[in-house]
Amino acid sequence: MAVETSCDETSAAVVKNGNEVLSNLIASQIETHKVFGGVVPEVASRKHVESITLMLEEAVEQAGISLEKLSAIAVTEGPGLVGALLVGIMAAKSLAFAIDKPLIGTHHIAGHIYANRLVQEISYPCIALVVSGGHTELALMEREGSFVLIGQTRDDAVGEAYDKVARALGFPYPGGPHVDKLAMESQEVEELPRAWLEPDSYDFSFSGLKSAVLNAVNQHRMRGEEGFEPSIARGFQESVIEVLVEKAIRAVKSTDAVQLLLCGGVAANRGLRSALTERCEREGISLLIPPFSYCTDNAAMIGAAAYLKWKQGEFSSLELKAEPSLSL
Ligand code: KG4
Ligand code: ZN
Repeated sequence: MAVETSCDETSAAVVKNGNEVLSNLIASQIETHKVFGGVVPEVASRKHVESITLMLEEAVEQAGISLEKLSAIAVTEGPGLVGALLVGIMAAKSLAFAIDKPLIGTHHIAGHIYANRLVQEISYPCIALVVSGGHTELALMEREGSFVLIGQTRDDAVGEAYDKVARALGFPYPGGPHVDKLAMESQEVEELPRAWLEPDSYDFSFSGLKSAVLNAVNQHRMRGEEGFEPSIARGFQESVIEVLVEKAIRAVKSTDAVQLLLCGGVAANRGLRSALTERCEREGISLLIPPFSYCTDNAAMIGAAAYLKWKQGEFSSLELKAEPSLSL
């Protein structure tokens, strides 16, 4: 059984052998947070409390197994919103205690990365490009369970930039899918900057690009222009994708990596998926991208990551704590 409550999705899944998803239920709180324009942590915790028990019950029922058949209870221990994490952790601890099965505290980003295992075995060493609402990272994985961060964002995470740009263009939270759709439909491209940083750096920066978008929107509005949104969405998306793709490919080429993994909520971006697929085909690089349903937050990915710990007998005690800033 895997439980994920790090942000605004309450999710429970039953995963067999780390890659066979028997059930994966997700209760999204998006409608609740939409009116505030973003996730309100306290509201998120309360919504998790309301739905967690039902999600656990539904997950075993849909999987068609009894509680006694579970071999361990995995739960996201961090990073994430502390109150939200606590709800999942308390539920997982209670269940583990009640049925006397081991508890496995699991890293949320490791979950995003190992979502790729739900589809295909990962080849090592590999590079993981993590793009989510809270993270933008390049990690070198020499072997299973080992992560060396070689690059990360110095300011906004890419999903955060998408959400802020979407808001400036008049879309509700979460805005990433709206900007993606608008960008794919646009024939015109507003020229926007790319933040390459130092020539050998694998770090990212998206706040300058975000400010450039906000300035461009203001200027169009001051000039009384209309219908500029699609070209801005396209320009923003092209800038983001070009930097992500270039740095990820350079990371693969300059290490002994044999595979590139894409993961995280922004991995659902159609422009990014196709640009990376095309480039990897051209360069002869093996690429794994999870299906759309395993890109945004879900418990199945936590089950996939926890399985590796289960194999090693790496269990957590019932003292497990929420770690809002847990590093990879
Ligand atoms: O991984 P995730 O579900 O939550 C975090 O761990 O942060 O990622 C959510 C982020 C949001 O910022 C959302 O706007 C973005 O992923 N996102 C997208 C797309 N679908 C979701 N961004 C760009 N294009 C998309 N199609
Ligand atoms: Zn996430």
